[in-house]
This record gives sequence, C-alpha cells and structure tokens, in this order.
Amino acid sequence: MEKLVINGGKELFGKIDVSGAKNAAVAIIPAAIMASQGVCVLDNIPDIEDVQCLERILESLNCKIIKGNNTVTIDSTKINSVHANTEDVRRMRASYYLNGALLGRFREAYVDLPGGCPIGVRPIDQHIKGFEALGATVTIEHGTVKIKADRLVGANIFFDVVSVGATINVMLAAALAEGTTVLENVAKEPHVVDVANFLNTMGANIKGAGTDVIRIVGVKELKGCSYSVIPDQIEAGTYMIAAAACGGEVVVNNIIPKHMESITAKLIEMGVEVIENEDSIVVRSNRSLKGVNVKTLPYPGFPTDVQQPMTTLLAVSRGRSIVNESIWESRFKFVDELKKMGANIKVEGRTAIIDGVDKLTGAMLKATDLRAGAAMVIAGLMAEGITEVTCIDHVDRGYPHIEEKFKMLGADIRRVRTEDC
Ligand code: EPZ
Repeated sequence: MEKLVINGGKELFGKIDVSGAKNAAVAIIPAAIMASQGVCVLDNIPDIEDVQCLERILESLNCKIIKGNNTVTIDSTKINSVHANTEDVRRMRASYYLNGALLGRFREAYVDLPGGCPIGVRPIDQHIKGFEALGATVTIEHGTVKIKADRLVGANIFFDVVSVGATINVMLAAALAEGTTVLENVAKEPHVVDVANFLNTMGANIKGAGTDVIRIVGVKELKGCSYSVIPDQIEAGTYMIAAAACGGEVVVNNIIPKHMESITAKLIEMGVEVIENEDSIVVRSNRSLKGVNVKTLPYPGFPTDVQQPMTTLLAVSRGRSIVNESIWESRFKFVDELKKMGANIKVEGRTAIIDGVDKLTGAMLKATDLRAGAAMVIAGLMAEGITEVTCIDHVDRGYPHIEEKFKMLGADIRRVRTEDC
C-alpha cells in the first residue's frame, strides 16, 4: 500500500496536461466489445486503475488487449462468454456497462452487480427499466444481473431520473436493437456525448446526445474503429481548484473550456482569475477568495464529482458558503477529515455549511473515496505543515499520476509505501 506525503503551503506555477476522461473511457472500453468485426484502437486513455480493471475483465471474456502509450487496442471478435463474474467486476462501477454491451451484441448478459465509491445508494432500476422496455427479461439472482432477450426492439423510454449510467447503458443495447429507440430525460454529460460519438464511429446511428432526447436507429452490427477519448472535465476541474486553493498561476492544458463553464463561473465569482484559451485555461489566484454557494446538478450544472475539491477550497474562503449535494446522499463523509485540519464545516443531510477559516494545518488523513481523496490532496497542498493521505488506491482509480502532475507545478508531494489502510 502507498500514501501521499505532502509538505503544504507552496504556491503552484506551471503547466499540466489533462488526461483522457475517466468516465468516458470506462464506458467506451466496454462499448468496444460490441464490434463483431475489426479492432477498436482507443487513444487518450487515462492510465488509471479503473481502466486496468476493465481491461482485465475484457480479457476474462476472451478479448485481446494490446496496451500502448495512452492507447489500447481491443479485439473483441473472439469473445467466448457473456458471463462477467470476476472480483474486478464487483469492484468497480463502470463494469455495469457490460450489461448493455453484451445484451446488444449477444442478446444476453450475466454480469455481477457493480461496486464503486461509497457515496450513497446507487440503484440501477433505470438501467433495468430501459432493458425491459427493449424486450429483455431482467432478474437479479445471487448478486448477478441476468438479462436475456429473444429480440431487442426499439422503444420510447422516459427515464424517471437523469442518470449517466442508465442513459449510456440503454444507448449501448439500443444501438444494436431492431428499429428506433427514443430516450427522454437523458443525461447530457460530455462523456455521454463521447460514447455516442464512439458508437457512431463504429457504425451506429445515434442522434441528439448532449440534448434531453436521444434518438437511436438500431443497426445490424458494429465494427472496430479508431477513436480518441475527450479530455477529463473532472480532472481539469480538480487542478483548477488546486491552483485557486494554493495560489500562483497554472495553465491547465488539453481541455475543452466549454465543459468547464460551471466550474470556471464559480471560481470567477470567488475572485479567481480564469482565462480561457482554445484548449487550455489559465488559473491565477492570490488565495484571497470569497465564499460562494454551490449546488451540484446534472450537466451543464456544477458537477457532483468536483463538489469535494470545491468544498475544500471553500473551507478557506472568506465568510459563509453553503454547498448542496443534490446527486449523492453521502458525499460529505470526507468533511470529518478536513475538520482534523481546522476546517469549520457543519453537515446537515445533503448540505454543508462552511465558515471559512484563515488556514488549514497538516494532518493524517484517510481517503474515503476517489474525489474525496483528491480533495484531501488539495487540502494537504494548501495546508501549513505535513499532511499524509492514506488509502490512495481510491485516488489512483481516477487520477493518473497525481503526485507527478502536482510535482510539475512545484508542489512538495511524494508517494511512499505504508502498512496503513
Ligand atoms: C456516474 O455515475 C459517474 N460514474 C459518477 O462519477 C458521477 O458522480 C455520476 O455519474 C453523476 O454525474 C461513472 O461514470 C462511472 P447516475 P452513475 O446514474 O452513472 C440515481 C466519479 O467520482 N439513479 O448519473 O452511477 C442515483 O442514485 C463517479 O467519477 C437512480 O435512481 O450515476 C443518483 O442519485 C462517482 N436509478 C442519480 O440518479 C438508476 O437506475 C445520478 O446517478 C440510476 C441512477
């Protein structure tokens, strides 16, 4: 096991390159198994544990995987199983995309229920509702989601909640169904659009991704293709917030500034200088920031996945800030760790009331989930003295080489082996 040891209080200066989007990559890799001819060559794939986990899962189904520098080539022509029941499947959230992908291609899927970050109840009823509407029978037995369809036929589906996972999963299955599927009240996140673009490059016929309604005309088969994953909106937001928190001047490169608008707007409201270029953003901060109120919402609202880093920044911003988490019911557990550093935050249900303090002081912290871990790294970087963050396997699931990237900005951070966690 490893931990991060941070000697905080240093301003950040320089440039960092944002990697490919985790939540796009972890959907596109399972989607690649829908190619019954040719290989998929995927570029801008982030070097993170969730991607490695998915690659092992695909190999267990007899896909051939060749890894390159930020690329992965997937040959799924010789898949010999529709059963995904390994420990890796149960460890991560995005393994549930195998349900839609296998159902679309083989009309059956037997995939163990997924794991993922402990941020609240994570039902999959909307995924199941979608598969059933397409004509599949779905049961859950002994921890496995069993899906079977004699025929998959396009349907009109109105989701009860806006769900990234359900939108993508049902879109996968519908891409290879007979006839037209119309999905309404869908998620509009950039990674939903990226998965639709990838499927279209494979030969699918999907229109409307990025709006409230997605229209899918099913095709008979999908083929391999070359595709480059979009930059990671959440990783970019995390580095922007780190720059605001530590002070200095950071250029966040290889991003789509449009995807960052809700985060950029909040940082500007707080007094951070943010300059947008074509594919980069410059963040300048003198650390004298004012508190603001934040409510997490589906895209284009403020992303829940950046809430924890933002709450950490607000812990040292002037006055009172209120953060309302509208997506996940328990995404404030990490606040107890921030309190060890002197933060003054009261959590009431899905709301955090933050009274800004002048500074945080270094402490021993335990990452409770992926984004909480990133938030603790930011807390350590801006705090006075030494902070240690254990359980960083959570962070490695979603942030490629986080300590290397922060080192390039002048941070004093190192990874060391530990028995803790
Ligand atoms: C995706 O999770 C992301 N994970 C999450 O990122 C992200 O927080 C979330 O979308 C929201 O943006 C991946 O892409 C792998 P949802 P997902 O279905 O798809 C409710 C990270 O840190 N819901 O959009 O699981 C659900 O309870 C992770 O990278 C149902 O009620 O989220 C939640 O309140 C953490 N029934 C809301 O919808 C369902 O069938 C949004 O969930 C599905 C969801």
